[in-house]
Amino acid sequence: MGEIVRLQKYIAQSGAASRRHAEELIAEGRVKVNGKTVTEFGVKVEIGADSVEVDGKKLEPVLKKYYIMLNKPSGYVTTMSDEFGRPTVVELISGEIKARLFPVGRLDFDTEGLLLMTNDGDFSYKVTHPKFEKEKTYIAEVGGGLTISGLNRLRRGIKLEDFTTSPAAVEILDSKAGRYEIKITIHEGKNRQVRRMFEAIGTKVLSLRRIAIGEVELGNLPHGRWRHLTSHEINCLIR
Ligand code: URA
Repeated sequence: MGEIVRLQKYIAQSGAASRRHAEELIAEGRVKVNGKTVTEFGVKVEIGADSVEVDGKKLEPVLKKYYIMLNKPSGYVTTMSDEFGRPTVVELISGEIKARLFPVGRLDFDTEGLLLMTNDGDFSYKVTHPKFEKEKTYIAEVGGGLTISGLNRLRRGIKLEDFTTSPAAVEILDSKAGRYEIKITIHEGKNRQVRRMFEAIGTKVLSLRRIAIGEVELGNLPHGRWRHLTSHEINCLIR
């Protein structure tokens, strides 16, 4: 379903008139929705589904572009719908944003943290396509079996079943009771990559949180909450 907006907003967004002028056009009977003249206020239209004409000329809607970051909680899928009925990240934003935003790339069901969402396909392409090489930084909590030589293998680049990773930046942040908190920055975005990298050096990821994509950081955004990206952040991601 497309975004549903007031008719005067649709007309204004298409560039045909200011919102005020659009109201006058409606009152004067110069606007048709799906072929029928509309003169009352409060009519809403669905972008991409309804057809709107002013003085017999069809308007091309300009889709408002959204660029947001969500702090994804564990227990949500990053697909638009789920065949097993599990909660989706879309549900976390749909109460507040009516446009159809999709996740940029994906995070595992039980991975938390920074997830970008947009309705701009070009933006999504630039952030996810391997040729643009956006670094992604994660905090991984890992269990026993961790060795310095294992971490050095990650630093050099490690062979997984389907590819060899680029050298990763790896730092031990904390260690407690046989568990380690590791900050790791990788350059690719392959399926379950961080989990597979730690498996390859003989340890297991117990929890995983993405804290940055390129220069854009999650910061202290609460769990399950989202915010709009700043224009500076959008530019950093697409340049
Ligand atoms: N690497 C993983 O293993 N899982 C994610 O969700 C993201 C990166």
